Amino acid sequence: MGETAQMAARLAMAGDPAATEHRVVLEARDLARYYGVKRGVFRGHATVRAVDGVSFTLEAGRSLAVVGESGSGKSTLARVVTLIEPPTGGTLRLMGKDPFGADAATRRELRRAVQMVFQDPYGSLNPRQKIGAILEEPLIINTALKADERRERARAMLAAVGLRPEHYQRYPHMFSGGQRQRIAIARALMLNPRLVVADEPVSALDISIQAQVLNLMMDLQAELDLAYLFISHDLSVVRHIANDVLVMYLGKPVERGPKETVFERPRHPYTMALLAATPRVDPDDRVKPQIIKGELPSPLNPPPGCAFNSRCPYAQARCLAEVPALRAVEGRLAACHFAEEIAAKGT
Ligand SMILES: Nc1ncnc2c1ncn2[C@@H]1O[C@H](COP(=O)(O)OP(=O)(O)O)[C@@H](O)[C@H]1O
Ligand code: SF4
Ligand SMILES: [Mg+2]
Repeated sequence: MGETAQMAARLAMAGDPAATEHRVVLEARDLARYYGVKRGVFRGHATVRAVDGVSFTLEAGRSLAVVGESGSGKSTLARVVTLIEPPTGGTLRLMGKDPFGADAATRRELRRAVQMVFQDPYGSLNPRQKIGAILEEPLIINTALKADERRERARAMLAAVGLRPEHYQRYPHMFSGGQRQRIAIARALMLNPRLVVADEPVSALDISIQAQVLNLMMDLQAELDLAYLFISHDLSVVRHIANDVLVMYLGKPVERGPKETVFERPRHPYTMALLAATPRVDPDDRVKPQIIKGELPSPLNPPPGCAFNSRCPYAQARCLAEVPALRAVEGRLAACHFAEEIAAKGT
């Protein structure tokens, strides 16, 4: 479909709730993934709530960015959404279907529809395979395409990600980091997925290369009507690519909403701190990045009440006693007892 036709289709569907529903690719309701871990010989077992009560809806052609410090549960969420691990609670629906309750054939179909791009473009490509073989492997496993059809599709995909036909014969070590990430993206797209889960896809790349790969991802998204679950600890990257943002802290959603709303007027103190710690690209902006005070608490022993209370400059007695609910605050959801009061202080 050409760009204009796609735009027309999108506009036609904008006013039609049934059509909008049809465009939902991924739905998470109260999703949880807990791990039982041994604390040591004498201290017994404990539970890590790596993902705890995450809900969202993601439509075709749109990007949800998941942000938070290391340890906030982003990769665990990615593993659940890509069906690598089952959730321990809540529900997940892909294209309206429950992959974990589905029969084997449906689950296979859903697995094909969700593909992943990882952070490390070195570790994720087999060094002994030529690029052609890397790209064709998913076709061999999942389709009945003949060798020449597979080759044709692999070469077309190389072109689509900005590489050349002769790269088909080369090995991963012959490419730069940015090129390898293009290859990883090409591989993820070989089976025409509806959803791509990208876990820190540009974090290992030089800043100058990051923008190129992000632009490529956005072009491919528009062309193929892809949904992205885009994971990053780096808010300047997210600023580029996201439509909606989900901020996580110790496995819990603390703020979620449209990118502009969350970035321009954050209402959770953790989001505020993350944004303050992110240097703007603007060279005239001399605001010194502010580091969030204190350490991330142990996930084995999170603070009672609001999990952010040990680092929050606004914490009060209630924050230690009562877990804040994720609730509507000025056009987004935020999990803070005092979101309105803090906003009124002009921060
Ligand atoms: N298989 C596992 N067993 C036990 N704990 C785990 C496992 N996977 C992740 N965790 C814990 O879950 C928490 C979230 O981890 P992760 O999802 O990797 O966060 P992020 O990607 O945001 O850095 C961490 O405390 C991590 O140690
Ligand atoms: S609930 Fe309390 S501790 Fe938690 S973010 Fe809000 S003010 Fe800070
Ligand atoms: Mg991670």
